[in-house]
Amino acid sequence: MDLRITLTKMPKQLPDDSKLGFGELFSDHMFNMDYNPEQGWHNARIEPYAPIMMDPATMVLHYGQAVFEGLKAYRTTNGRIQLFRPDQNMARFNRSARLVCIPEIDEAFVLLALKKLISTDKKWVPMAPETSLYVRPTIVAMDSFLGVRPSSTYRLFIILSPVGAYYPEGFNPVTIWVTDKYVRAVRGGLGEAKTPANYAASLYVAEVAKKAGYTQVLWLDAIEHRYIEEVGTMNILFLINGELVTPPLGGSILAGITRDSVLTLARDWNIPVAERPITIDEVMAAHKHGSLQEIFGSGTAAVISPVSHLAWQDQVLTVGRARVGPMAQRFYEAITDIQYGRAEDRFGWMVPVDEA
Ligand SMILES: Cc1ncc(COP(=O)(O)O)c(C=O)c1O
Repeated sequence: MDLRITLTKMPKQLPDDSKLGFGELFSDHMFNMDYNPEQGWHNARIEPYAPIMMDPATMVLHYGQAVFEGLKAYRTTNGRIQLFRPDQNMARFNRSARLVCIPEIDEAFVLLALKKLISTDKKWVPMAPETSLYVRPTIVAMDSFLGVRPSSTYRLFIILSPVGAYYPEGFNPVTIWVTDKYVRAVRGGLGEAKTPANYAASLYVAEVAKKAGYTQVLWLDAIEHRYIEEVGTMNILFLINGELVTPPLGGSILAGITRDSVLTLARDWNIPVAERPITIDEVMAAHKHGSLQEIFGSGTAAVISPVSHLAWQDQVLTVGRARVGPMAQRFYEAITDIQYGRAEDRFGWMVPVDEA
């Protein structure tokens, strides 16, 4: 497929690298591609960043038929630009698409377009330490139609947002609130898809947790309300008695690429790993017996997010004396060192953008 490029005549002012937030600013260009049943995916183009015109009856606005991805481009110490395991994001994009009846994409082509877009906007990849360019590929249903059925037309777009260091002043541990009242996703539902419904389902509960004084929600399974699933928009890992334990990917959890990277490193370092169901009662008991060493979340935005406190029913646990544990620190450094080219990429995770 051809990829047309139209450059902007009005480049925006570049932001100050030292003052970047998350997801607030967007680069000069975006990638767009359309789908209809006659032509399949077609009309691939990089063009100036612009609003998308939509009829008020556009199906995505009513029924939420959409999928998205999130990954980052990093500027290495020698000035090159590279992506972290983008093939995994493309594969997950298609897995999510299948679950909400969106036609699959050619993963290799979309990855090529994504690299080309970053290359076009390479001056938007920030230089300051631990900053990056967040990449958001999205597909939305475009039929103008009121009625619940899969759309026949779609728009795929990719936008870029320069983002600041997640921990500008060192690790900022999260406090988490465990709920057996509200649920995020159920087995057999959409939990393993990166689709807006899952995020809409989390909003109200996140506000309840915030009001109670906690930063994130720990989700339990939707049937028995015992098995741990995810934390906020991250996967979760426990270090219990020297073993790294994380819930299995049973259909209601997003298959995090950071989670997979942590497990790969742990196995490489000969740390015992168990992907198995774990209940909130087991975590409470491990804490009581002194075997709960660390809890941390994993995800693209923060990489590793140590947990300092966990509130469940009438108890509040303090994890690892509320200090960042050595295991969380080790994973954080190992992964970010690979991402920024400070360490050898032994697993072949990094994909250069430069020659796209
Ligand atoms: C619900 C949810 N779980 C887990 C993750 C972590 O996935 P990844 O490590 O691929 O960013 C994310 C973020 O992308 C998420 O939104």
